[in-house]
Amino acid sequence: MDSRSWMLLEQEDPRWRLPDDLRRRDPFAARDCGWVEQMRPFIRQFSRPGERVLDPFCGFASTLLAAHLEERAGLGYEIDPARAELARERLARHGAMAQRVVAADILREPPQGGIDLCLTNIPYFGCGWASGDPDQLYASADYAGYLQRLGERLRLIRQLLAPGRYCIVMAENPQLGGQMLPLAWDVARLLAGQLQLCEERVLLYPKPVEALAPMSCHSDRSHEYALILRKQAEAPAPEAGLALLRAMQAAGLRFALFGSFAAWLEDAARPWPADIDLLLPAEDAAVNALLAWLQGQGFALSCWQQPLELPVRLAEYRGRYYFRAERLQRGGERLRLDLCFELDGADVAERLGGLRFCQGLPLAG
Ligand SMILES: C[S@@+](CC[C@H](N)C(=O)[O-])C[C@H]1O[C@@H](n2cnc3c(N)ncnc32)[C@H](O)[C@@H]1O
Repeated sequence: MDSRSWMLLEQEDPRWRLPDDLRRRDPFAARDCGWVEQMRPFIRQFSRPGERVLDPFCGFASTLLAAHLEERAGLGYEIDPARAELARERLARHGAMAQRVVAADILREPPQGGIDLCLTNIPYFGCGWASGDPDQLYASADYAGYLQRLGERLRLIRQLLAPGRYCIVMAENPQLGGQMLPLAWDVARLLAGQLQLCEERVLLYPKPVEALAPMSCHSDRSHEYALILRKQAEAPAPEAGLALLRAMQAAGLRFALFGSFAAWLEDAARPWPADIDLLLPAEDAAVNALLAWLQGQGFALSCWQQPLELPVRLAEYRGRYYFRAERLQRGGERLRLDLCFELDGADVAERLGGLRFCQGLPLAG
């Protein structure tokens, strides 16, 4: 891979293209199948021979075939069993027997062991797909739910990824209902909440040029983005996280620590968690006081990627579970808090019975 921020993909090599007979067996004629050539440079650049490459949405196994050609061990997940079967058949025709396709959602059958590179072409929102499987992202009924489910899978991928290694997600901004949906940018924001957003490459697929009618703004959308993210190897900001919690304590805010940050406080030998999880009393006044304080400290507040306007009324956020507060520090590190006001569909206080919210560090018991 060279330093250009774009890659030109002019022709698919017939040797690696999805064979026509397999393409015909797909009900959508494999309209969403990517190119092996699109994946190979990323595999060469961001992994080493023999390493493990994951594609959590592997479709027809273009990534796994690319991994095979570059002598990496590919592991793919494809929720549609018929597609998974096509993918296996394609790989078998290339003698790529060591590449593995699991016909499942990665959340339902997480892999054993870590991964060295995640490389994937995500399923887009808005593609027609008749499926009764609620995990099929193509069948998502609304965009917020789609991003939420995608985010849950990316969270697991972050956990699986070896420190210092890369996750590369290919995405575009599709046309939907006569408008451009900024999906690639929303996904970049979603990913940046989990991993360090390092770079983008624009992939260009030239098509025959056509003149546009006056005032028409529609392009042929012959490009997509490869979003390149890295799992930070080193602890980003433990002191800043602790200092923040102490300041919150001193300001008399009501919260309780839980999750991986609480565990890290008890045992500093554990890896520094990606974020700080707090439980909040499900009371409008206490929650608004805490949110307003954080906002005053330079934190951006959101709920499921939507900016939050204060004051909030918790009753309007039923089923959303948590708010997020995020601050980009001067040194480029991100400090992130997940502020949970519901657990398993119930108020936190109700769910945890005797939990006492106080200003104590560590966990209020
Ligand atoms: C863009 S296609 C991938 C195409 C692939 N890059 C290729 O070239 O063969 C996305 C795939 O993700 C699958 N998918 C959707 N939701 C999924 C989920 N929750 N888990 C696993 N696969 C899923 C879809 O069925 C679809 O085949």
